[in-house]
Amino acid sequence: MARKLVAANWKMNGSLARNHDLVGKVLAGLSGVACEVVLCVPHPYLAQVGGLLEGGAVGLGGQDLSAHDAGAYTGEVSGAMLSDLACSHVVVGHSERRKYHAESDALVLEKVQKALQAGLVPILCVGESREEREAGETDRVVLGQLEAVFAGLDDVAARKMIVAYEPVWAIGTGLAATPEMAQAVHAAIRGALGTRLGADAAVVPLLYGGSVNAENAASLFAMEDIDGALVGGASLDAEAFVAICAANAAH
Ligand code: PGA
Repeated sequence: MARKLVAANWKMNGSLARNHDLVGKVLAGLSGVACEVVLCVPHPYLAQVGGLLEGGAVGLGGQDLSAHDAGAYTGEVSGAMLSDLACSHVVVGHSERRKYHAESDALVLEKVQKALQAGLVPILCVGESREEREAGETDRVVLGQLEAVFAGLDDVAARKMIVAYEPVWAIGTGLAATPEMAQAVHAAIRGALGTRLGADAAVVPLLYGGSVNAENAASLFAMEDIDGALVGGASLDAEAFVAICAANAAH
């Protein structure tokens, strides 16, 4: 059985005051909720949020990392820096990085390798656009993005991954995939991982992301191959985020 996990992706949102309030409310709401939770926050706030989470069970994550170790790469942040700031996870290959920063599958693989070298768990994002879904290309696109990374990893590294299926058309639109649509893609991902890892494919957490909210979370988590969620917009609302984590804990 894969671990239950809900990861927050704050994206480029927050302020010192707002983070303090949000994290306080999330921690209070999560007491007694049996779900692994990770907050992926903007780099400037890692130290602040790390301090607020210190000693507790909620993990800290970055939203991206550099494919380089150190040096003349202005503006970039290395895996070692994220580890230094107590991150356990890092989002890699989010569709917003692929779209606005032209991140290729090859670059995403390099970043995943750097994350693993730094002792971070990569949350690899994959997902099709609306046009690709309408053209019947969903599995080809998603499994292609998955394969491009997994082909470059040894089996030990592959078992450490988390995969987030995030259909691009569902991100931030309020139009989540139906549980059945998401499950179909998750089953295809699990199948592809099974070809590679055998029974161990079951230990790789498969998260769904794209307009997850307090209302639709339970029906998504009821699906066999949906182990958790990567939550954007709703992770900025403590009550909604805690409700999503509680729904995950209940399945
Ligand atoms: P959303 O974002 O929950 O706001 O759709 C999800 C994501 O991009 O990870």
